[in-house]
Amino acid sequence: MKKIGILTTGGDCSGLNTAIYRIVHGAALRGWRVFGILDGTDGLFAMPPHCLELTTDTLTLEYSHLAGSFLHNGHAGSMNFETAIETGKVAKFNRRLRESLRDMELDALILIGGNGSTSLAWAHHEIYRDLQLICMPKTIDMDMPLTMRTIGFDTAVEQLTKFCDQLLMTARSHHRWFVVQSMGRDCGQLALNAGLACGASAILIPEIKFDVDALIEHINDSPTDYGIVMVSEGIKLRGHSGRPADMISRKLTSAGISNRTAYPEHYMRAGDTVATDRILATRMADCALNAIENNETYVMTILDEDNQVRTVSLADFVSAGKLVADPNVPELKTSNAYVTDDDPLLQVARDMGVYIGEIK
Ligand code: F6P
Repeated sequence: MKKIGILTTGGDCSGLNTAIYRIVHGAALRGWRVFGILDGTDGLFAMPPHCLELTTDTLTLEYSHLAGSFLHNGHAGSMNFETAIETGKVAKFNRRLRESLRDMELDALILIGGNGSTSLAWAHHEIYRDLQLICMPKTIDMDMPLTMRTIGFDTAVEQLTKFCDQLLMTARSHHRWFVVQSMGRDCGQLALNAGLACGASAILIPEIKFDVDALIEHINDSPTDYGIVMVSEGIKLRGHSGRPADMISRKLTSAGISNRTAYPEHYMRAGDTVATDRILATRMADCALNAIENNETYVMTILDEDNQVRTVSLADFVSAGKLVADPNVPELKTSNAYVTDDDPLLQVARDMGVYIGEIK
């Protein structure tokens, strides 16, 4: 009988609980025991590690579609990879994590994380050398290379789309525009997908250069005097500082365009998990359990271009992305994916009359 651990790290998103639920139930069918580690690596750093056994009796279906993580994702300010690097305590931190995993006598660990956690897991893979490490990708940013989808992305797109749908009614009543700021860090996928879904008149993302005068002209030429301008949080406007939606809003105001800003913020990470995220989380949980059965380690589950869920090595994951240093902790490098010029949504958006910037 195998003993496996699960932890969720980085920012939460909807779909984590479906993944946990499916891992526990799939493992039970194989006769395995599952331990949930609380608060990600914070829980492993604690002595003794913070964990609890997860069973099919306690983890029931009706809660599995709720957002957040039953296991929590970590405490602000506690010892983690970032603080360990900053304070020069990496060796101690790594040793504690490895000891905790050994004390728990785990055969395998399933780490459900974003590009930061997954890149770090590979950079510090010695910690996991006594067990099998299987990663599952989750993030609303959809900025992880090799996988066509990450758990949580579709629900975030749904949340942001609904938010904009509601705003449109008040926008129409007052003949005004709403500049909506989406999350996504320096990746425009969330803004692009939700922007297209809600019918935004303009979508500004960090990967594509845009021209404010062209944006203003586009709005002035619009057949309506209201609508949504979707702005990704990662965009920059030369010579301006502050929140991106505020910067764009000020420009529109000076051009005489009546507008307001709106910040859906963490609402994008909440919301009941949509069906496609539940299916993805279920397929990836199954793939992770099969990977354990097949004695794989240092792998991540992906949804590939042929719609197959399979594993890739963590080394391949890291080398497939663009390596970017954390602005606060430069030693910490993450493997990132971005919207590329050949993304079909860009062309569709332009064909549908959406201002998307200066695409080739
Ligand atoms: O990476 C997920 C994400 O939601 C980003 O889109 C956003 O910039 C960031 O996390 C917000 O982080 P916090 O929850 O710490 O405010």
